[in-house]
Amino acid sequence: MADSNGAKRWNSTARFYDLLAHGAEKRWGPAKQALFGRMGVDQKILFAALGTGLDIAFFPPGRTIQAIDISPGMLAQAQSRITAYPGAITAHCLDITALPFPDASFDQVFTSCTFCSVPDPHTGLAELYRVMRPGAELGMFEHTGSHYVPFNWLLDMCNPLCRHIGPEMNRDTVANVRKAGFRIHSVEHHFLDVVKTIRALRPEQDRG
Ligand SMILES: C[S@@+](CC[C@H](N)C(=O)[O-])C[C@H]1O[C@@H](n2cnc3c(N)ncnc32)[C@H](O)[C@@H]1O
Repeated sequence: MADSNGAKRWNSTARFYDLLAHGAEKRWGPAKQALFGRMGVDQKILFAALGTGLDIAFFPPGRTIQAIDISPGMLAQAQSRITAYPGAITAHCLDITALPFPDASFDQVFTSCTFCSVPDPHTGLAELYRVMRPGAELGMFEHTGSHYVPFNWLLDMCNPLCRHIGPEMNRDTVANVRKAGFRIHSVEHHFLDVVKTIRALRPEQDRG
């Protein structure tokens, strides 16, 4: 059967994902904590994509969060972390490119290593834009291509293999965010620019 949205691929990665991600999580923890620390107490928050829930360790306590992921297998692995979180996380098995939430539903949206993985990042970003209220904040921790040219060649070479397991290594996510209509607030580079913290806003006044 075709796997156009990638769910099957992620279901088969789910059981060993934590093992693969363990080293990176240790390095990335402080950057994720700084970003997710922006989650507000009384804010309507969407988190995409939750995966096995490794990000939950970096959420501030006491928040109420709607979380999505396309893979039932990844969400099943996340269940114990969702239950242990000292706040409220409601997980939905949903495709980020076709969200059922009404327009302007969220005050804040966060992502982590999501837009390296979504097969159609442009539609996914357009959906996030739609469900965010004008003025809402997008906080992303994302795998991207690197400005260091030789290193980017390496990412290009690894890409066919990585794509087979799940993520793409060399996307220009900052440009994609801008193209979707967001205003970039800041971009912070980590680890030879391979991952970035991107903060953006849905402008108060839409482009029209
Ligand atoms: C690299 S993992 C990141 C998971 C988690 N945020 C983390 O950092 O450990 C990418 C996640 O994106 C999810 N995903 C891929 N395509 C998606 C889509 N179209 N809609 C929602 N989630 C998607 C996958 O199921 C997977 O859990």
